[in-house]
Amino acid sequence: MKLLLFLILPLYLFATSSFITPTEYASQLYKNPRGIGCQKCHGDNGEGKLIAKYKHKGKQRSFRAPMINTISYNEFYKALNRRKNGMPRYFLTDKEIAALYLHLHKNDKKKK
Ligand code: HEC
Repeated sequence: MKLLLFLILPLYLFATSSFITPTEYASQLYKNPRGIGCQKCHGDNGEGKLIAKYKHKGKQRSFRAPMINTISYNEFYKALNRRKNGMPRYFLTDKEIAALYLHLHKNDKKKK
């Protein structure tokens, strides 16, 4: 019985996970990549967000994550493959980067 479960469970998980649509997949990836979710810093729709305020040499400063829903796919792709200040490195595959980009642009037509 245990063996049977062992064989069936992965099949079951595989079958159910393939029922999600590409847009659902992308939305989940955006919120839960292998690491901290993008929306924590960039906002739910990639509109950018204030992460923290702090004082540096007596001056008020703020640390923001930039807006990422208006840049080109090329810039988006390059940005995710180079080191940045204050953003974790994710090591995403090309497919994942494409899915994330689509997620951020899923409402583009509606906005116009
Ligand atoms: C801990 C906060 C944080 C998280 C989480 C985070 N980012 Fe960032 N991101 C930043 C900051 C800060 C910058 C600006 C870095 C710089 O200017 O060097 C940035 C820059 C970027 C840029 C470049 C924007 C530009 O105009 O050059 C892209 C694209 C990007 N992030 C996408 C993502 C995606 C996709 C995820 C999730 C997989 C993510 N980020 C998660 C903080 C974060």
